[in-house]
Amino acid sequence: MATVSDVPDEPGQPPALTALSLAEISQESKTKEQVITPFDVSGGVDEHGKAVAIDYDKLIDHFGSQRIDKSMLERFERLTGKPPHRLLRRGLVFSHRDLNLILDKYEKGIPFFLYTGRGPSSGSMHVGHSVPFEFTKFVGTPSTCTQRVTANKSNRRYLQDAFNVPLIIMLTDDEKFLHSPKLSLKDCRKFALENALDIIAIGFDPAKTFIFADTEFIYGGHGAAFGYNILEIGKKTTNNQIKGTFGFNDTYVVFFWHTTHYDVNWSVTYQVNSNNILEFAFPATQSATSFATSFPFIFGSNTKIVSKIPCLIPCAIDQDPYFRQCRDNAPRLGLVKPALIHTVFLPSLRGSESKMSASDTESSIYLSDTDNQIKKKIGKAFSGGQDTRELQEQIGGRTAVDVPFQYLTFFLESDEDLESMRERYEKGQMQSGEMKAAATKELQAYVAAFRERRKAVTTEIRDEFMRPRQLVFKSMPPEKEQ
Ligand code: TYM
Repeated sequence: MATVSDVPDEPGQPPALTALSLAEISQESKTKEQVITPFDVSGGVDEHGKAVAIDYDKLIDHFGSQRIDKSMLERFERLTGKPPHRLLRRGLVFSHRDLNLILDKYEKGIPFFLYTGRGPSSGSMHVGHSVPFEFTKFVGTPSTCTQRVTANKSNRRYLQDAFNVPLIIMLTDDEKFLHSPKLSLKDCRKFALENALDIIAIGFDPAKTFIFADTEFIYGGHGAAFGYNILEIGKKTTNNQIKGTFGFNDTYVVFFWHTTHYDVNWSVTYQVNSNNILEFAFPATQSATSFATSFPFIFGSNTKIVSKIPCLIPCAIDQDPYFRQCRDNAPRLGLVKPALIHTVFLPSLRGSESKMSASDTESSIYLSDTDNQIKKKIGKAFSGGQDTRELQEQIGGRTAVDVPFQYLTFFLESDEDLESMRERYEKGQMQSGEMKAAATKELQAYVAAFRERRKAVTTEIRDEFMRPRQLVFKSMPPEKEQ
């Protein structure tokens, strides 16, 4: 039976590890439900104790978002005048909230803004992080490195340019500091500036993009030292301490039950939660960027107009819990609910039951990796191929769990090449070594093209992106059209 001792009591554990996820740990069998939160991504465990791949259909039902269907893709194509991005074509951008409302407004000429972000937990981002950013910006129609670098400008642009709207990118250095027992505030602030260089190298338009790091933007200027002390003190203060001192109350009861053929046992447990007080507060920070009223220097200060400007957030689905909560509260503040467009996760090198994650270096290919490192990592990646050449020829490989093939679905532009590899692999006409070589080539090309663009990003360019300023975009409509 799950008891309170199963609740991690170390500060830095996700608040999301609550009654629900605990109750989902089955008491008899080894089965574990999948868990997807901003802090924890795993596909769960089946009744034989085997890790299983993330079930995105189930996730849509559980989270209550909507599937992106064929008609939505057609509408996208019609409105943007561009063929759907490969992530959309392949169902890797798979779910949304209120995207139809954003497209309705866009059709009427009412502008919106894009918002995405990164929690700087490491100096270099990994190729998984680049997925939502790529989708926000970039379409690499040609599939080879040289073609990509020289690609016609119009081929390389997507959401931001297709819609001609401002983009705000939030670097949550405070979030990473508050959640990680290991990271200092100094580390996170440094990572934020380094990650900004990576993000700019994806190819965003400086005239339409504002990037900010929370600590600088929220606590900058004369208040900086004061703000940093609030963070340091807050990180050391637990919810329980505050409750004890001030009598605040957040205790709730968790019921666990255990049934056998003959009896039903009930037990009642009080949840003990030792997350620090600012972890509880942070969702408000991530939410605040969803509202145009947070940025008067971009949108102006006519609250009546600005409070109605909608926001579209591209992200992987792990960030959805933040925005679900934000959407619940927005109407109570007289603000528009943010819309979302969700991507699936680029899988870990270890297998598709978990995502590529910066906190697990063995799971990730970094944008700073050399060609050789990429080759070695993909060489060791989980393969859906058979153990011997003969067996592979006889029964073929399983592309559904083959990590190198999964990477190709994210990065290889040509649908025909991808389909042909799928077919040959499954029929045993292609060996796992060949699949790994193809993925290595594609990832090396992707990272090499990124490396070239990254070299050109100077700290002066970054300073300009991070300077609070008016952005260039279609002007706001008159009040009556909102
Ligand atoms: P972070 O740094 O965990 O992730 C940055 C972005 O990358 C997505 N992501 C992935 N996408 C595909 N495959 C993966 N393996 C993978 N791992 C991460 C995340 O969903 C995210 O879109 N709290 C946020 C920062 C943030 C944010 C936002 C992100 C603030 N505001 C608005 C998206 C939208 C964070 O720590 O992201």
